Amino acid sequence: MQAVLNFIDNNREKYLQELKNFLKIESISSDPEKKSEMDRCADFIKEKFSELGLDKIQTLNRDGFQIVYAEKIIDHNKPTILFYGHYDVQPVDPIDLWKSPPFSGEIRDGKIWARGATDDKGQLLTHLKSVEAFLSTSTELPVNVKFVIEGEEEIGSPSLGKTIAAHKDLLACDAVVISDTSMYDDKTPSITYSLRGLAYFQIGITGPNRDLHSGTFGGAVMNPIQEMCDLLSGMKDKNGKITIPGFYDDVLKLTKAERDGFKKLKFSEKAYMKVLGVKELFGEKGFTTLERTGARPTLEINGIWGGFTGQGAKTVLPSKAYAKISMRLVPHQTPKKIEKLLKDYLKKAVPKSVTYSVEALHGGEPALTSIEGKAIQAAARAMKSTFGKTPVFTREGGSIPIVVEFGRLLKAPVVLMGFGLATENLHSPNEHFDLNNFHKGIHCSAAFMNEFIKQ
Ligand code: BES
Ligand code: MN
Ligand code: MN
Repeated sequence: MQAVLNFIDNNREKYLQELKNFLKIESISSDPEKKSEMDRCADFIKEKFSELGLDKIQTLNRDGFQIVYAEKIIDHNKPTILFYGHYDVQPVDPIDLWKSPPFSGEIRDGKIWARGATDDKGQLLTHLKSVEAFLSTSTELPVNVKFVIEGEEEIGSPSLGKTIAAHKDLLACDAVVISDTSMYDDKTPSITYSLRGLAYFQIGITGPNRDLHSGTFGGAVMNPIQEMCDLLSGMKDKNGKITIPGFYDDVLKLTKAERDGFKKLKFSEKAYMKVLGVKELFGEKGFTTLERTGARPTLEINGIWGGFTGQGAKTVLPSKAYAKISMRLVPHQTPKKIEKLLKDYLKKAVPKSVTYSVEALHGGEPALTSIEGKAIQAAARAMKSTFGKTPVFTREGGSIPIVVEFGRLLKAPVVLMGFGLATENLHSPNEHFDLNNFHKGIHCSAAFMNEFIKQ
């Protein structure tokens, strides 16, 4: 094992250059103009697989962006670890806020700066490089390894569920490991045992059949933007409670142990406010910030538009208004049920003066993984030996919808062992990844495989 760790240390610079090249590919899955970049990115990963000498390198799906696969089976009697990650990234706008171009992978202040650095290219690469360290030093891999790297995570993984279902035998494993979450802070490693789900909708309101002169007609008909505001305000009260009837019915209550666990983390609201540039926090009454973001459901308005938004003034009573809203869900809420509750609410609340439409854009189920079992224990030991500190178990607010499906379809425990930091601007301008954590992530991945076969 020492040879493996030494190899990782000796190749720190080489691995960093590879990450940089990975980050130069503009793999934005939601942008139709980046289709060829998406393929180039999948090819890049396949090339890395083949440099490692992995077997069965292939694309698993026909429709959608490539889900790339490779494996190294060294002994059928050994356990198998499946590593999952995603090579697609979020769009880069607003681009003028980036201090270096988003696909340059500039290195400064001990970090690498690029879209996808922490979410998820940097994190997923740790597992390829740890496997490389075993194979390059002719150290026998402690476990069989499989890789599933997809390109549609940021658009809701529309192809992955079907693909896993169609390849259950190929993907059979004893544990799934995903590094696409955050550490509690830069000194405290964490294992995430719950992620929130997502229910995302677009709502449209139509008033009069065309834009009207607001002087001639104002006062006579309902303004659709006004109605949209009323509807949206009616979904949440001043205490931050969501008021859509039935919304909290299936919410799993936090246990006393969980609340104590959150408290022990000694979260500083003051530092948090400073980082975010706000003077006061707001959230559901009766819960702490960590509880609100990790273990309680929320409703956010992502965007709202309609009418005149150009320069100067135009006196108009618009015909249409739109909003995109999303709810983060917690166990045991489901996007399907939430969709029904939202539709019931709109049916009752929308007056006859306008018409409306509602479209579900994407959804994902919340995840709750076991905090017991071989895989989690191995991850905890690996994190402790790598970071010199026992990991904390956290619940995080983001979503990786496929986590639930992995558990369900492959009947394997999922370990969320992330090396990113919440402050690394994922989905924001100036995304970056700490180079020490990249390096330690590779160590940790190697240590995990080693620990998995102990006990
Ligand atoms: N890696 C994130 C999810 C995440 C973020 C987990 C922070 C834990 C902490 C993932 O790439 C992501 O952004 N997911 C989307 C899901 C959606 C597009 C279906 C999300 O959470 O918005
Ligand atoms: Mn991610
Ligand atoms: Mn993301």
